[in-house]
Amino acid sequence: MTDHHAEALRWDGQSLFLLDQRRLPAEERWLPIPDLETAIKAIQDLVVRGAPAIGITAAYAAVLAAREHGEHAVAWMKDMARLAEARPTAVNLRWAVQRMIAVREEGGDLDALEAEARSIHARDVAANRAMARLGSSLILPGSGVLTHCNTGSLATGGVGTALGVIVRAWREERLTSVYADETRPWLQGSRLTAWEFHREGVPCSVIVEAAAASLMREGRIHWVITGADRITANGDVANKIGTYSLAVLARAHNVGFMVVAPSSTLDPDSPSGDEVPIETRDSGEIWRTAGLTEPLSGIDAWNPVFDITPGELLSAIVTERGVLRPPFTESAIRAAAGR
Ligand code: MRU
Repeated sequence: MTDHHAEALRWDGQSLFLLDQRRLPAEERWLPIPDLETAIKAIQDLVVRGAPAIGITAAYAAVLAAREHGEHAVAWMKDMARLAEARPTAVNLRWAVQRMIAVREEGGDLDALEAEARSIHARDVAANRAMARLGSSLILPGSGVLTHCNTGSLATGGVGTALGVIVRAWREERLTSVYADETRPWLQGSRLTAWEFHREGVPCSVIVEAAAASLMREGRIHWVITGADRITANGDVANKIGTYSLAVLARAHNVGFMVVAPSSTLDPDSPSGDEVPIETRDSGEIWRTAGLTEPLSGIDAWNPVFDITPGELLSAIVTERGVLRPPFTESAIRAAAGR
């Protein structure tokens, strides 16, 4: 099976480069990331986004920071604390930074840090492949699927999480139709997911989020398939705003709900979604989607970019270690996290 997937980032042994996702699909522009400050800003500004891709970027950024600081471990540790906070919801960021810190605490030098960053990257590529195989096997031939946000190679190190499952299921001739939410306000669906499906040769219809209920009512969807930014000990899922609405709709229409996430996205130390910090972004993102440069006087906007889907609304969590079915227990989540 040939992959035609895009790349979110490149590391050439010296430098990190990020494909600027703010400009896609209109323009494919690679940005050099020479230092930690530029990496933190790129993560915050969504040059790179998607939980696993953010984690991999952070790992390489830790190498850049170690180069900047030489032997000054205290300054490097302070930088690691700031890096881990660049975006609060995606736990892969904290996970990757902790792994880099562990290497340094064991006396690892610059070469050891780079080897760890490459290993985090390679591990995500392998996890993506395993999840694609496992997730696709759950889908019966003749199915229609709906996905949300962007979970492909732009959001990961490899073929993606949910999008990797869908591409594989399409090639295995299990799917009759693929739908993607446009994913307001940043339009990860209509800009990035549509572009990735186009590159992969998978026909896809983009819908506004509000069309999902009608699509399910007409019986055209058998699985909703999403990624995750964090999965807590009880199976609650933090993911792109609108995931919760889809899970409620799926339950109401007897549609399966599959969450696809590598073990680096599992957070068994957080008991439930109530403990997950939800990132709220600048309301300008909402106004710009409406074609406005600034809000109308006296009009406010609320822009939380993630929500919590209770684990009880899921049919399956697919990780590279296997498929979990509800009810999700802390011990099962911990085992899947490799702890
Ligand atoms: O704000 P984003 O674009 O970083 O949000 C991304 C998502 O919500 C994805 O669904 C999630 O990171 C899983 S991607 C493999």
